[in-house]
Amino acid sequence: MKYAQFLIALLFAVSARAADFPTTTAGGESINIPTAHSVLMLRVGDDGRVYELHYGAPEKEIAKTNVLARETELYPPFGDGFILEPALEATHADGNTSTDLIYVKHSTTTIDTNVSLTRIELRDPAYPFFVTLCFKSYAAEDVIEQWTEIRNGENGTVTLARFASAAPQFKAREYWLTQFHGDYKTEATMDEEKLGHGIKILDSKIGVRADRFRFPSFILSLNAPADEETGETIGGSLEWSGSFQLAFDLDFKNRLRALCGINPFASEYKLKPGETFTTPSMLWTWSDSGKGQVSRNFHRWARQYGIRDGNKPRPVLLNNWEATDMNFTEQLIVSLFDGAKKIGADTFLLDDGWFGNAHPRNKDNAGLGDWQANTNKLPHGVSFLASEANKRGINFGIWIEPEMVNPSSDLFEQHPDWAIQQPKREFIYGRNQLDLDLSNPKVENFVWGVVSNTLSTPGVSYTKWDANRFVNQPGSTYLPADEQSELLIKYNFALYGVMSNMAASFPNVMAMACSGGGGRVDYGSMKYFDSFWPSDNTDPVSRIKIQWGFSHFFPAETIAAHVTQMGKRPLKFAIDVAMSGALGVDMDVRKLSPSDLQFLSNSIALYKKEIRDVVEQGDLYRLESPYDSARAALDYVSADKSRAVLFVYQLKGGEDKSVKPRGLDPQKHYRVRATNDREVYTGEIADGATLMRDGLPTECHNAFDSAVIEMIAQ
Ligand code: DGJ
Repeated sequence: MKYAQFLIALLFAVSARAADFPTTTAGGESINIPTAHSVLMLRVGDDGRVYELHYGAPEKEIAKTNVLARETELYPPFGDGFILEPALEATHADGNTSTDLIYVKHSTTTIDTNVSLTRIELRDPAYPFFVTLCFKSYAAEDVIEQWTEIRNGENGTVTLARFASAAPQFKAREYWLTQFHGDYKTEATMDEEKLGHGIKILDSKIGVRADRFRFPSFILSLNAPADEETGETIGGSLEWSGSFQLAFDLDFKNRLRALCGINPFASEYKLKPGETFTTPSMLWTWSDSGKGQVSRNFHRWARQYGIRDGNKPRPVLLNNWEATDMNFTEQLIVSLFDGAKKIGADTFLLDDGWFGNAHPRNKDNAGLGDWQANTNKLPHGVSFLASEANKRGINFGIWIEPEMVNPSSDLFEQHPDWAIQQPKREFIYGRNQLDLDLSNPKVENFVWGVVSNTLSTPGVSYTKWDANRFVNQPGSTYLPADEQSELLIKYNFALYGVMSNMAASFPNVMAMACSGGGGRVDYGSMKYFDSFWPSDNTDPVSRIKIQWGFSHFFPAETIAAHVTQMGKRPLKFAIDVAMSGALGVDMDVRKLSPSDLQFLSNSIALYKKEIRDVVEQGDLYRLESPYDSARAALDYVSADKSRAVLFVYQLKGGEDKSVKPRGLDPQKHYRVRATNDREVYTGEIADGATLMRDGLPTECHNAFDSAVIEMIAQ
């Protein structure tokens, strides 16, 4: 548009402001979004904008002033007066780069006794451009789920350059941010820092397997470093598996704004007339008793609302990846079923390497894309394996990586254009593979076909969905030139389409999310999965820290924890570490000594009978951090506080200090018993108050000593 035309359009827009799109008269109106122990307080200013007053303790008194600083706008748009990092940046159809958002109305709908939805409708006074801020509040879990709907009612395309899901503000003296970063085999490493003025960004730009270097969740502690039991603490978690941005802007008045959503970097989005862009949701929880409560809030929320089958026990898996890699035959796999039976596993999970014929999947350089059973390895097909497992009373699961392709595959030979790629650039491979372009509906359909054919195989009741490649050449042969920047967003929405079809069409097939270890651990994908694979690092010493990190947001039932041969450790230590999550095994158990085999099967029986339900459904208390002591300790307490399980892991030699459980009922009398082959206690009875005050000696002195202690109310 020429400059003169632009000026005319702008003048027209300004003069249309008052006449065409009347603004609110609701100045002063309060909008409160409460949960059981917190409240988000908002107010409509006299200027019609919506401001945030407070997020935190419900009893907070807010001075009845309506002089609201512009910087405290709840969802600030760019270009008409707001001077800090905006939540929204849009270029309107006429080229105007400014947006103003004025309150129209709001409504609160009760969904059930626990959940209510508040929708605050805003519009630009000069354009038919609408933004609805949505807040679902989960009272009992103290969680607020927030997302934004952006609708273009203009005659032409609106270009979105920023489109945060949420941008709340906090007010404190100091802000301490904990992030969870890492890489392959060092996932969920915790790092806390005091925020200084300016913008601190935690992000991902790699679109797929996007959580590889950091997952999109954080802990914010107000006024002091985060503590497990004390202090105002906020947990944030974005329901998005693609590139994300969590930007923390500490302003000149020491207010902190957290702008969270899809990463706007290189992701301009064209919103056509009549279209609505719905951002992914952001989860918030607030606690005045530390990050332990923040975690318990997330866990309770997840079990009810955030993951598949939140209240079903996770099967004990026997996986073959570390035992066989891709080198197996039908006979070998069938022989492993007997081991599964012996140790008491519920499900055998066949990992990578079962498919590809013209391009057999014997190594990671071939076969991805060709999802037919390899006839040399599995002459009778997958259903035969499943029925052999079923005959022995074992369920059968199978690995897939449906979004990916090896150049050495029939699929790539037929459809080289289906791979994500940039024109005029040579392919860059990662693990010899490329990502399929899910923005293309034909590809999406193909990927759904892979999932649905594989999971329809008779006898399949479990799947592990892997994704080992991120995107570093984000181009699509399908999308037009002016929509290339939308590729990674469209990919992830299409991915959710396939995942939600999977969950809906195969309700009896449980699913584990995996992405080269923990490269896709977020509540965007976890809606469709029962658990996730946190890391290929199964050395229990490393796993203690990795599981510790993920436990800040994800309940133990989602954290797959397998006993393997990795690490120099006694078997008991490896089992005790895995028992604090969703226990599984990845070993050729035929190679275990008779005594180890017996011990493993005893442990699994004990886990299923006495431990699994408390670990998977109980409240977690992190007692001693592996980051700052010679040992790690945690306990889980059932909701009615009648049972608890305490785990202690000695990491270095040290004195046998007593370990203090938390979360018990002070009045109840608990019988205390050490289990899993370590007779420290054999049935003493003590009340919860004494146990929590005085603690228990652990008899763990040397590195790799560990204890599992049950406390059962009498
Ligand atoms: C990466 C996963 O993290 C492993 O557990 C295994 O499934 C391999 N991929 C298979 O290729």
